[in-house]
Amino acid sequence: MAITYTPECRQFKLDAKDTSYIFIERDGFLLHLYWGAKLSDCDCSYMFREQGRAAFSPRMENCGGFILDDVPLEYPAWGRGDMRSPALEVINADGSDICDLRYKCHKIIKGKPRIPGLPSTYVESDDECDTLVVTLRDDVTGVEADLYYCVYGELGVITRYTALRNTGKESVNIAKIASASVDFDNIRYDVISNFGTHCRERNIERTPLHHGDYVMDVRRGASSHVHNPFIILCDHTADETSGNVYGMMLAYSGSFTARASANQFDTARVQIGLNEREFGWKLGSGETFYAPEAIMCCTTKGFDEFSYRLHTLLRTRMCRGKYRDVRRPVLLNSWEACYFSFDVERLKKIGAACADLGFELMVIDDGWFGKRDTDNCSLGDWVVDKKKFPNGLHEISDFLAERGVGLGIWFEPEMISPDSDLYRAHPDWCIHIDGRPRSEGRNQLILDLGRQEVCDYLYDSISAILRDGSIKYVKWDFNRNMTEVGSAALPADRQKETTHRCYLGLYSLLERLTNDYKDVLFESCSGGGGRFDAGMLYYMPQVWTSDNSDAIERLRIQYGTSLCYPMSAMSAHVSASPNHQTAHVTPYETRLTVALTGSFGFELDPTEMPDDERNRVTDSINLFKEYGDVLQKGRYHRLRNPHDETCAAWCTVSHDKKVCIAGYVLTHVRMYGNNERVALRGLEPKAKYKEKFTGAVYTGEQLMNFGFHAPTTLEYRSILCIFEQI
Ligand code: GLA
Repeated sequence: MAITYTPECRQFKLDAKDTSYIFIERDGFLLHLYWGAKLSDCDCSYMFREQGRAAFSPRMENCGGFILDDVPLEYPAWGRGDMRSPALEVINADGSDICDLRYKCHKIIKGKPRIPGLPSTYVESDDECDTLVVTLRDDVTGVEADLYYCVYGELGVITRYTALRNTGKESVNIAKIASASVDFDNIRYDVISNFGTHCRERNIERTPLHHGDYVMDVRRGASSHVHNPFIILCDHTADETSGNVYGMMLAYSGSFTARASANQFDTARVQIGLNEREFGWKLGSGETFYAPEAIMCCTTKGFDEFSYRLHTLLRTRMCRGKYRDVRRPVLLNSWEACYFSFDVERLKKIGAACADLGFELMVIDDGWFGKRDTDNCSLGDWVVDKKKFPNGLHEISDFLAERGVGLGIWFEPEMISPDSDLYRAHPDWCIHIDGRPRSEGRNQLILDLGRQEVCDYLYDSISAILRDGSIKYVKWDFNRNMTEVGSAALPADRQKETTHRCYLGLYSLLERLTNDYKDVLFESCSGGGGRFDAGMLYYMPQVWTSDNSDAIERLRIQYGTSLCYPMSAMSAHVSASPNHQTAHVTPYETRLTVALTGSFGFELDPTEMPDDERNRVTDSINLFKEYGDVLQKGRYHRLRNPHDETCAAWCTVSHDKKVCIAGYVLTHVRMYGNNERVALRGLEPKAKYKEKFTGAVYTGEQLMNFGFHAPTTLEYRSILCIFEQI
């Protein structure tokens, strides 16, 4: 069992691989003791040192005299003496905001229960995970919290979530509910997060923890480009290969809050959960509310190991379905090839080229439906545009199928254009507040997926396109954030539930569609990486990483994304040069080297490629067909940081250490610069490796200690090496 309870000292010990997470129960409070390197089973209660630091913080009556503000709490609720950021805040029927949660009971179960209505990690056999459920209760209101701790012993990850139950007679309002909250007994840490924007996602920010709050307060109705739903605390000295790293990620696609606070007694608290200000929920008598899952990972071995654990968990126990474990099909996407200007004849020309070159899928992006020749109309009208496809989509899908290429299409189901038949029929189906203007983003509004009839409409209209099986892939987009948040279907005292209800609706719609169309590969997108989160990965194993397809920019975006997310989840395409977003002119091999790290494809018109590039496409596709399995499932190592250095380098090593694929890109030439060499990680030291393109032979220890020579001249030059054991 990965979980032990020792009654003598009322201690809970959770062992995840080489780490332990420990807390005790005293006077009904769960006191956090330890999260770090694995400890043998023993009484750790000495770790709790009540220091009696009052400093104006009151001592709680009838509870052994704790000064709650001074003790490490496992799930702090607002209203008594803990004045730090609470995990739970409830407004009671009498208007008070006190919730005095005390231990009631606990149970340890094998396996992992599903969280109703929400995406979550799962098990394939009960042996993979043990679950501890601790029930806390406020006797005055009857509010009960079940704290779930799911321990993936082998994978080295613990996940947490809370189920809040109202056993009282009166309704209460949940004002805040964090999915995880962890107290640290000192503040000698850095905090790490992602920040960014559209086309510049997931830069890494690392800053020393400071007194007060470091808060990511994302209330955009999407996990967003601006931050990503995770937060990391680490030693000041932690690097790729050493140091303590503690991370929390939320498996959710909507607004969230992540917070790291350093408090008056130099202790720290880290939390993640639904957004604290946007969210509210009226919990009626007898009802239960489930907070999304938080994925927690701790390692003493630096960021490389941290990423590896999360990658493995997300790739194998968050992603699902037919495409989880298979090399993903190589696709050509029409967006940067033609934008909105296409018809079936143009697509046939591109499709014929796709077939000649060896593509497995061709994707028709935005513009195939309604009367959509630009982005100002038709979202919601998911019917084929007969002007572009007089004989329907079949003409192109049959054309492609005869040539061995599958057809994919783009949808943006959660949106509605004011200029659409759907809006004319149902102007109240969008998120809006009566009597106020409806702000448009990209000329569109957002559908209220909290309403069952909206989800049913979407299911039916998407099914009408997918039902006959000719569509093999769907790109599911979401191109604006939420404003004027309100639902015509909810009473005034439930308006704060609107956003979360939209996500519950989205998740149930996706559950239906992905179950009913198991052969379709779904790819998530939100103006690129505006919803790159574990919640979406539950339904769609890959995400269009960024609308910025420039290889040099992608180095930074992919580097930041790799901190938490597996390479198989990152769609990466070779696009035209000069690049459409940045106008960078980049050699073909560099665009290829960068795109070959993820789920691979092209984002250009193959009929317009220069001959010398087009002649290389088939070899490139074959390379991915041969090594895609290693690239998607192998262990990824970040070797050079393009945010700080004048180059980027990485490698992916197969689990048997027989194959290593390494990439290097020179992003800035320094005159008389270094004799650049790149040392690899994760190889077999004594084994010999032959490099595929040069035939040079190295030992694993040479490659790991000295490395291979990298180019030092010519900006944007790159090198792709494939080392295979001989
Ligand atoms: C978003 C996506 C793009 C493309 C366009 C189409 O911006 O991220 O890849 O699909 O929409 O409108």
